[in-house]
Amino acid sequence: MKNSFRKKPLALLLEELKSEHRLNRVLGPVALTSLGVGAIIGTGIFVLIGVAAHDKAGPAVSLSFALAGVACIFAALCYAEFASMVPVAGSAYTYAYASLGELFAWVIGWDLILEYGMASATVAHGWSHYFQDFIGIFGLGVPLIFSKAPLDFDPTTGIMSYTGAWFDLPAVLITFAVTVVLVKGIKESAGFNAGMVIVKVAIVLLVIVLGAMYVKPENWHPFAPFGYSGLSIFGHTILGDAGAGGTPVGVLAGAAMIFFAYIGFDSISTHAEEAKNPQRDIPIALIGSLVVCTILYIAVATVITGMVPYNQINIDAPVSNAFKQVGIGWAQFVISLGAITGITSVLLVMMLSQPRVFLAMARDGLLPKSFFGDIHPKFRTPWKSTILTGVFVAVLGALLPLRLLAELVNIGTLFAFVVVCSAVLIMRKKYPDAHRPFRAPLVPFVPLAGIFTCLVLMLSLPAENWIRLVVWLFIGFVIYFFYGRKHSLLNNTNS
Ligand code: ALA
Repeated sequence: MKNSFRKKPLALLLEELKSEHRLNRVLGPVALTSLGVGAIIGTGIFVLIGVAAHDKAGPAVSLSFALAGVACIFAALCYAEFASMVPVAGSAYTYAYASLGELFAWVIGWDLILEYGMASATVAHGWSHYFQDFIGIFGLGVPLIFSKAPLDFDPTTGIMSYTGAWFDLPAVLITFAVTVVLVKGIKESAGFNAGMVIVKVAIVLLVIVLGAMYVKPENWHPFAPFGYSGLSIFGHTILGDAGAGGTPVGVLAGAAMIFFAYIGFDSISTHAEEAKNPQRDIPIALIGSLVVCTILYIAVATVITGMVPYNQINIDAPVSNAFKQVGIGWAQFVISLGAITGITSVLLVMMLSQPRVFLAMARDGLLPKSFFGDIHPKFRTPWKSTILTGVFVAVLGALLPLRLLAELVNIGTLFAFVVVCSAVLIMRKKYPDAHRPFRAPLVPFVPLAGIFTCLVLMLSLPAENWIRLVVWLFIGFVIYFFYGRKHSLLNNTNS
């Protein structure tokens, strides 16, 4: 059992960085920041904002965005400190290995599959819906049997039903296309991403500027029809009101839901090993992309809730529909295009990040190195695990009722943030003199505030997510005890 808590010494981590078999250092600050924006702006702002405004927060959804953004900024400052200190590919996994020990590191690595793998599947599913909407404008469609997953799940009734379809073909095709680009190389992936980021940011700016002309301030009254709180502990609402199905409503509950919109900024830290100057550029990219997206999100939320009364906001395509409601039909075409592009880049960066976490785990012996640690001789990418990730995402995206899994992505990511914030506190104690090119300000306030805000958001999610998280982590424990613990490279060192 003692072995499970062994820690990877900081000196060993830094020593390993000098080895030959590392990834290509090709990313500068602009490419890194656009990878961040690429991973952030997607399903959250184009889809989830609808249900958050309509059912959870009303016009005060803009405050929900601000709150979730603040929680993420605390976490981002902690990620930035770590990434500048240990610029390797493993992100939260590596940070936990150095501070909390091997078992915890494994748990976080396993948990990150929820964030990157599961989120990719959710996003592939969302992509398919927008794609089908888009081709529908031209009178085209996908045959019903290939248009969606065979199962659907209604969270309010808890009932699973057959949809009559076989599988979601567009989700499979987009995942396949993204996998090909990812195997080809980090430079191609970053270039492809940068193009998509320009398109989606331009369309988000168009939404803000054009939408502002159609704002009617009376739509902002009442501002917070569901209240300012909305906190539940394991399914018991303790602050604010309960909505349909007993789930909490209010600004806080809205924040827990639209937290999904911010997921992805942390993926920048998985590219530390591919950054030209990680110590300087990773903190800039982490914080820069988050601040830019927070501002854009608050502006979009303010405009959309000003254009349409909150209870008339559409749930499936809230942004394009708001323009339709004020009589600018052509905007539907442009906005759908922005959503498709935006969601593609989210998929690209999420699926780029997952194999890099596997790679870090394989290098430490916690996963089979011949598979997860194999770098393609020509492309210098972890190609086998990239393809495996593609298959995993395609299968989940094609078959599963992903509404069931989307909240699991939120809780899994929030859990990783709590661990990273805690790890910063531990490392400051354990290695007070280590070289930290970027230091999170106001320690211990910032990490403690990060832990607190992320825990509050975790608690505001419907309670079943805790059960799903625990089951997922339990499966991870079993794999660790049968494989990772025995094969860990630290078995052969004196740490
Ligand atoms: N933040 C990403 C999105 O909203 C996951 O799609």
